[in-house]
Amino acid sequence: MQALITGGAGFIGSHLAERLLQDQHEVTLLDNLSTGRYENIAHLDGHPRLRFVVGTILNESLVDKLVERCEVVFHLAAAVGVELIIQKPLDSLMTNIRGSEVVLEMAHRYRKKVLIASTSEIYGKNINGPLREDTDRVLGSPLKSRWSYSTSKAVDEILAYVYWKEKGVPTVIVRLFNTVGPRQSGAYGMVIPRFVSQALKGEPLMVHGSGKQSRCFLHVTDVVNALVKLIDHPKAVGDVFNLGSQEEVTIEALATLVIRLTNSSSRIVRVPYEEAYEEGFEDMPRRVPDTSKVRELIGFRPTMHLEEIIQSVVESMRQPLPTPAKPPSP
Ligand SMILES: NC(=O)c1ccc[n+]([C@@H]2O[C@H](COP(=O)([O-])OP(=O)(O)OC[C@H]3O[C@@H](n4cnc5c(N)ncnc54)[C@H](O)[C@@H]3O)[C@@H](O)[C@H]2O)c1
Repeated sequence: MQALITGGAGFIGSHLAERLLQDQHEVTLLDNLSTGRYENIAHLDGHPRLRFVVGTILNESLVDKLVERCEVVFHLAAAVGVELIIQKPLDSLMTNIRGSEVVLEMAHRYRKKVLIASTSEIYGKNINGPLREDTDRVLGSPLKSRWSYSTSKAVDEILAYVYWKEKGVPTVIVRLFNTVGPRQSGAYGMVIPRFVSQALKGEPLMVHGSGKQSRCFLHVTDVVNALVKLIDHPKAVGDVFNLGSQEEVTIEALATLVIRLTNSSSRIVRVPYEEAYEEGFEDMPRRVPDTSKVRELIGFRPTMHLEEIIQSVVESMRQPLPTPAKPPSP
């Protein structure tokens, strides 16, 4: 298989690249190195079946060439992370909506299969749980960055779905819930790398809001295994799948666990949402996926518990990525 991964130098993209190379596939990565890092893939550089292209999914002629040459596309490039979306709302919208449109248009032109990485953010404030793929979305004002981000990813889903329904482009939509593992950056609001980094430095762990909000974390290797199976499964085409863990933890309990696992002297400090993000910031108190659909289709089951997941992040942060040679120029 010749695979194109957009966002291939990102956290999930770099793990997916490793996995596809191990499975003997040919892999092309397209990334503009905005939130992604060359360090994430430097260890793969020089691999005979890997090609890394620095560029943006908004560059139509570039995407045209790369999609033409591949057989399947994993479309992971996106503006990711609550902090980034709040800091750069317009860029984020353009990347997510226009960028996905370009990728899907080229997939249509060359009749290629596309897997689109969507997000649990599309469920918005719906606290009913576990959330099924057909559960209602509950959103606040579109003028709030978080809900415009949710909408941008929902538009991606709609585009992918209608390209399948109307034009027959084989698309698969995967709604990722919180995904964690080595190489995830804490710089854009991702909680586990942020907590682990704070704990290892002996700094206070900043818990936003009351800390009673809960989340479920899935290890990136489980995500990658599922993505590879889903793109290969004929019954996944034209459909949408939740992908996440059901092991629920409050953010307060998570902070305590990180402190224990790192043997840190850090303390926990609560920061109001308005201070951490922006005035009127809204968070969801709970977010748990129903994963029966993906379990039934590909036998998905998480293989790692929360403690093991945190340990893997701690180990990777204790051995920082080697400083690489210069990344290739665009
Ligand atoms: N990590 C999670 O918990 C999570 C949860 C839900 C959904 N997702 C989705 O998974 C995908 C991958 O996320 P991630 O966690 O690996 O984040 P990431 O930020 O590490 O990866 C995104 C990659 O896209 C690249 N990118 C951004 N704009 C681009 C552009 N215009 N052209 C080319 N490349 C561009 C970035 O440089 C980065 O490498 C995203 O679509 C995201 O919405 C992730």
